Amino acid sequence: MAKASPSFTCTACGAAHRRWAGRCDACGAWNSIVEEAPLSAGPATKTLGGAKGRVIDLTTLAAAETPPPRAASGMDELDRVLGGGLVPASAILVGGDPGIGKSTLLLQATASFARKGLSCLYVSGEEAAAQVRMRAQRLGLADAPVQLAAETNLRDILTTLDTLRPDLAIIDSIQTMWADHVEAAPGSVSQVRSAAHELVSFAKRRGTAVVLVGHVTKEGQIAGPRVVEHMVDTVLYFEGERGHQFRILRAVKNRFGPADEIGVFEMTGGGLAEVANPSALFLSERGQAVPGSAVFAGIEGTRPVLTEIQALVAPSPLGTPRRTVVGLDAGRLSTILAVLESRCGIPFAGLDVFLNVAGGMRVSEPAADLAVAAALLSAREDVALPPDMVVFGEISLSGALRPVGQAENRLKEAQKLGFSQAVAPERSRIETGDGMRVRKMPDLTTFVGEMFAAG
Ligand code: TYD
Ligand code: MG
Repeated sequence: MAKASPSFTCTACGAAHRRWAGRCDACGAWNSIVEEAPLSAGPATKTLGGAKGRVIDLTTLAAAETPPPRAASGMDELDRVLGGGLVPASAILVGGDPGIGKSTLLLQATASFARKGLSCLYVSGEEAAAQVRMRAQRLGLADAPVQLAAETNLRDILTTLDTLRPDLAIIDSIQTMWADHVEAAPGSVSQVRSAAHELVSFAKRRGTAVVLVGHVTKEGQIAGPRVVEHMVDTVLYFEGERGHQFRILRAVKNRFGPADEIGVFEMTGGGLAEVANPSALFLSERGQAVPGSAVFAGIEGTRPVLTEIQALVAPSPLGTPRRTVVGLDAGRLSTILAVLESRCGIPFAGLDVFLNVAGGMRVSEPAADLAVAAALLSAREDVALPPDMVVFGEISLSGALRPVGQAENRLKEAQKLGFSQAVAPERSRIETGDGMRVRKMPDLTTFVGEMFAAG
């Protein structure tokens, strides 16, 4: 059998290449391609050298299956994001920017699970044991029966795990792990990939739930290989804006629960506090009704969340006016501006546009389109929207408003928070809606006419 030729992998997108190049064809990143040791060289996997395989046992779809037993931590925001608690033998990747609070979150979570009776092992490759202990004491977790190790040698960690067989093991972080059978520096793609592969197979083999912490590059990808995302069952991102104390734990992939579910936390002096009512929190900074503000009734995972969309529109001194967006997709803003211009005849040429979601929240639902348009128009026309109004709806390229899912849940949440009117797409499915004055509109032009008629 031919010797495996060396392979090269892009550290940014994970694309495989036959030879080294300065630029990755797949994602366009520069200096991101590195040589890769073949995965099969590891001690845990057998090479395919000629030996005959065995016939796999087959089963049917109808075989009786009980849902996986779950362990709840008692931290509701975390348990919900996990899909109702921790599943044994699952592999979870928690990604986030350095310093966002991943270690704090996982230390708190580990302590909660340990107090519920799970045997937990926390392996820190970044901090000394004394540092972790000090943090635990400051957070009031010192009494939790968590076993702690400061170690980066993967072989030693796996041997320890195999001996202890804990219910839960935290590896903080996967980038600091060092597998001695791979000739590459810790943090390189081959190291991260081998370490993740070994740890995930350990989880599956021995029934331990393994949490891998991964730092994310500024492009928003788990540093090094995206491949780790494919290996694990669940990928959670811990995100937040610098300067805001809110942190959002978001499930971007979950084999054991709904994706897109979020948990909201607040970073305090005493660690992360759970935020049970995020809408109230995100709207808490809202003052008087000012032009440029619209409240979006959104859905995050299974839960309605209200957020304030803020816009500022000002004459631009630049040839190409600025389009600055925080918390929303910039491409979506361009689309909405284009629809406003071509379908409603409201130009934004020569105007700088700044768009922001208050509180450091990130909104990715298309249902936010109408709230974005409302904030933009309100800023441009200098007319404040009614302070007790929420808005939702997707805008199509024709300017029509498309109905969005869970309209009633959105309205219920708004009503709970003291809002009394809403603007929604015409074909929205709203049966009750009592207590709320709902104005259904077919398209953006109607919306402009009714809300900004004087402008
Ligand atoms: P950390 O969990 O170390 O981040 P990560 O593991 O994602 O790199 O969190 C570090 C930040 O959190 C640090 O800047 C200080 C802040 N912090 C608090 O504000 N309060 C606290 O109680 C703790 C433990 C940390
Ligand atoms: Mg850390």
